[in-house]
Formats: sequence, C-alpha cells, structure tokens
Amino acid sequence: MSLTDFIKNYRKSKRVLFTTPSHGQGDFIIPECKKYLGKKFYNCDYSEIEGFDNLSSPEGIIKSILDNASSIYDAKAAFFLINGSTSGIIAAMYSVLSKNDKVLIARNCHKSVYNGLVLTGAVPVWIMPDYNEEWGIYESINLDYLEEILSKNKDIKAFIMTNPTYEGVMTDVYRVSAICRKYNVILIVDEAHGALWNFHKSLGTPSLVQGADIVVQSLHKTAGALNPSSVLLLSKETPVPKERVQEALNLITTTSPSYPILLNIDSVINFLDSDEGKDKLFELTKSVNRFIRSVKSNPNLQVYQYNNDVTKILVKVTNMSGFELSQQLFDKYNIEDECANEKSVLFITGLGTTKQKLKKLERALTKICSSNIKITQDKTIEQGFCNIEPRVRYTPSAVWGRMYKEIDINYALSRVSTELVCDYPPGIPVLLPGEVIKKEHINYLINKKKTIKVLL
Ligand SMILES: Cc1ncc(COP(=O)(O)O)c(C=O)c1O
Repeated sequence: MSLTDFIKNYRKSKRVLFTTPSHGQGDFIIPECKKYLGKKFYNCDYSEIEGFDNLSSPEGIIKSILDNASSIYDAKAAFFLINGSTSGIIAAMYSVLSKNDKVLIARNCHKSVYNGLVLTGAVPVWIMPDYNEEWGIYESINLDYLEEILSKNKDIKAFIMTNPTYEGVMTDVYRVSAICRKYNVILIVDEAHGALWNFHKSLGTPSLVQGADIVVQSLHKTAGALNPSSVLLLSKETPVPKERVQEALNLITTTSPSYPILLNIDSVINFLDSDEGKDKLFELTKSVNRFIRSVKSNPNLQVYQYNNDVTKILVKVTNMSGFELSQQLFDKYNIEDECANEKSVLFITGLGTTKQKLKKLERALTKICSSNIKITQDKTIEQGFCNIEPRVRYTPSAVWGRMYKEIDINYALSRVSTELVCDYPPGIPVLLPGEVIKKEHINYLINKKKTIKVLL
C-alpha cells in the first residue's frame, strides 16, 4: 500500500488526536501558510501515533514502503532521507568509517563529504579527477591513478566518488567497483544527480547496478520531488549491514520525520516506476535531445556531449565566458541557469522541464549567438579552481573548533585555512579546513573575498 492510500484510510477513522504536530492535521493553519501550502499538505502531516510507524526502526507502513522501494531499485535496503543527500552521504560515511580510518575521496565531492569527515574523524586521501580545461569542469576518475593510490595505501577503507558529476559526466563504475573489490574498499557513490537513471536506461547505468556498495540520490534534483527528498540504497552484494546504516541515519535524523516528504518520496518512486512515469521520461529525453540537435546547428554554440547524462545541458558560446553568457541570459531573457564557470554554462532539466521552457532558452541562445558578440573574455574570465591539488596539513576534524584569525587574503599564502571555501553551486570545496593556502587559491579567490580564516 502506498503512503497516500494509508493516510487516506487512516483519516476515515476520524480519531481525535491530542498529539504533535500541533496544527492538528490542518484544524488550525497560520493563514499565510494555508495560502501557499494548502490544507492537503497539513492533512498528511502526522507524528508517530498509534498505527503509524517510526522512521528510525520501521515495522509498519514505513517498512512496507521501504520494502517496495528496495524491490524497485533491486537493493538490499532502501532508506528514505528527509534531509537530502547531504544526510545520506554523512550516514554512508558513518556506516563504514571510524576515527582515523583512511578514506579516499574524489576532489569533486560535494561539501557534505566534508561534514562527514568532521563528524567521523576519518582521514581523507584525495584523488583529483581528470580536468577538462576547455569546458572548465571535472571529468571522470582515471582508473590507473585510482589503482595506484589503492595499491600504495592498503589501509584505505572506503572510496567516495560522485557519479555523474554535476555536469552529468559519468565514470565507468563497473571498473571502479572491480578495483575497489580487489583492495577490499567499500565504494560509496554520490549519485545525487542521477536519480532518473534507474528509470530510463538511456540516461546512465545506475551505480548500484555497476557494483557500488552504497548509493545516495537526490530525488528533488531531477526526479520531480520536493526539496529535500532523497534515497540511500544499499547493494545486495555489499558486506555493509543494513542495521549499521540505520544506526548511522538515526544519529543524524530528526525523530519527527516529515510525513509529507515521506509521502512525496514514496509517490515519486512509484510514479517513476509506472508506465506513466516511463512515458514522461521518454518525453523529457526526446525534448532535450531535440533541443540539443537544434542549438548545436548554430556554429557559435557548442554542447558538451562526451559520455554524459543528456538531462544536464552544458553549453559554450564562442568568444564568450560562461559567466557572461549566464549574465546575458539572466539580464536580457529572464532565464536562470544552474551554474556557470569561466568557460561554460550548465542547464539542469528534469520532470518539470517543459517544451516551452526549452524553446525559450533556444530562442535566447540563438539571439545571443547571432548578436555581434564582443570578445570580452579577457575581462571576465576567472581562474578556475578545479585543478588545484589540495595540500593537507591537518584533517578537517582535527581543525574543527581550533582558534583562528581572519586575515587579508593577500597575506594568506602558506597559512592553514580553517574555513570551508566553496562556491554554491556547485558545492565543490576549493579549500577545506586544515589545508594549506596556495598561490593558485589566492589567485582564484582574490576577486571573490577579501579575508580568510586561518589557523592561529
Ligand atoms: C554532487 C552533489 N552531492 C550531494 C549534494 C547534496 O544534495 P542534497 O541537496 O540532496 O542534500 C549536492 C547538492 O547540490 C550535489 O551537487
């Protein structure tokens, strides 16, 4: 039974509740909230009352919807995350890492991995993914480099990587997982941007299918769910016990989980798995592919198409920086992209991307390309940070809470940062607490911030 049906049935009982939450399932709603959220939202917001279940030790309706999701994803266990992939990544790390354990992390990781490092006390070893200068983005992990690091560091317990990247670039996880198995390393994949992969084969092969142990996906990013609805999936083959993951999640999850969000996650997964959902994804990929074919015919415009998920459209216009293109789209055409870098602009599509929106973007790009493009690159281009290798002096957990002072960025060379410096989006750390500030960091940050916190 879906959570929607369960709640519908429960409401028929008309039980009188003297319990939390205090809005009494909408018997009183602050007027402004009612206007925007609607009464139905409140109608399904319950606590762990008789007949309902407990997210921290599910035995009833929550167990039943989780079992349903496990079977849809073909996983040993599925966990619904009502605090986004951020919480799933931290819980995945807690499940397999203890204080001072070594963990290999791809440097294009999301900043939530940093949170996991502070909380677990694990010691990071960084691997730089390949960097594409032409587009200003990270690409996949070099497999020989991965094998070399693991063969030299036999004490590494886990490897955390992002697949696909923010821009949709995929890594061959089949081969990564084979290498990890060879060295007895648990593979955690942040698949926040790949939540549609399980439901449409042409987008990408899910990392769980490719042999990852733990996979975390954000359903809100592309799959049409409300913020911050995510799932954590545990592979059938992994040695990680599902009880351990549950315990880890319980450490960081509220005891009052949002039933509207749980209902949302359950409904989104069931929809994506239905014929209607498959048709919707088919339509989405068809529209995006049509859009790409059309804009690509413009000689002044390039679309990134190397081994990537088509729902993430990365575009470059001749003689124009990504920042400038982004600004023009925003100022003149009222269009906001997901993220821009010095070379390109990223547009994220998903279930809510209509043909009309794509058409509007296509018209804007065509106009920008056909207008007399001034060469302004020299003025606007910024130094990218993607290829700055970190120099680690202390682990993030060792620096947490230590005394710092804020100094002029111009005088920060060789000091140890106590700040997590990170543009959002994409949320990839430029500098982590405990890392030495290099000249390249200063060059990158000089126009962005005046001061930086450094260790005393
Ligand atoms: C690669 C990646 N992983 C994880 C996250 C965190 O996801 P959530 O917003 O679901 O917590 C993000 C968010 O931007 C992300 O880009």
